[in-house]
Amino acid sequence: MTTHILDQSLAHQMQGATKEEKVDALFAYMEKKGGTNYDDQVTQLEHALQTAALAKSAGGTHAQVTSALLHDLGHLLVCEHNTENDFLTEDLEHEVVGAKYLEPFFPREVTVPIGLHVPSKRYLCTVDANYHDGLSSASKHSFEVQGGKMSDAERVEFEKTPHLEFAVQLRRWDDGGKVGGCKVPGLEAYRDDVLACLV
Ligand SMILES: [Fe+2]
Repeated sequence: MTTHILDQSLAHQMQGATKEEKVDALFAYMEKKGGTNYDDQVTQLEHALQTAALAKSAGGTHAQVTSALLHDLGHLLVCEHNTENDFLTEDLEHEVVGAKYLEPFFPREVTVPIGLHVPSKRYLCTVDANYHDGLSSASKHSFEVQGGKMSDAERVEFEKTPHLEFAVQLRRWDDGGKVGGCKVPGLEAYRDDVLACLV
């Protein structure tokens, strides 16, 4: 059995730091850890940057852009790529890991949608038949690992969730942020968005 360890180094660096130092630590961490593959098209960092670029070009708020940029941080924090397993073969609830890790530093409008971006995919697959067909093959595979379609009761419950509308929108940007070779701005383009959200 594989053990996944939560990397506390980023949280330690951010605790007690100034807002500028927090952004520096966050961006340095993403640069350092984000070179691993997200799928066969993009790295983790490219995926984060593409998702944030979609949020930005859609006129997203600081919170929405920050949420988009950081939505998969959980993948980097659990050191999944230090193991022999492909991260898509096992559901480690990276969205919950990422949201909880960021809670001390960001408001709920940033962290709640991060925590919901996997159930949002399940929700969209449940209510929109075309949505599932449009997913990448890796995303279709992880959808099955993550629980597949929602039952009616799950769907009704999920529709009561705060921040639902944005969580679903984040999911659509997430799905769009997987284009190999797509040139988008780097992390520094989002410094002001992240700074505006840090608590
Ligand atoms: Fe993602």
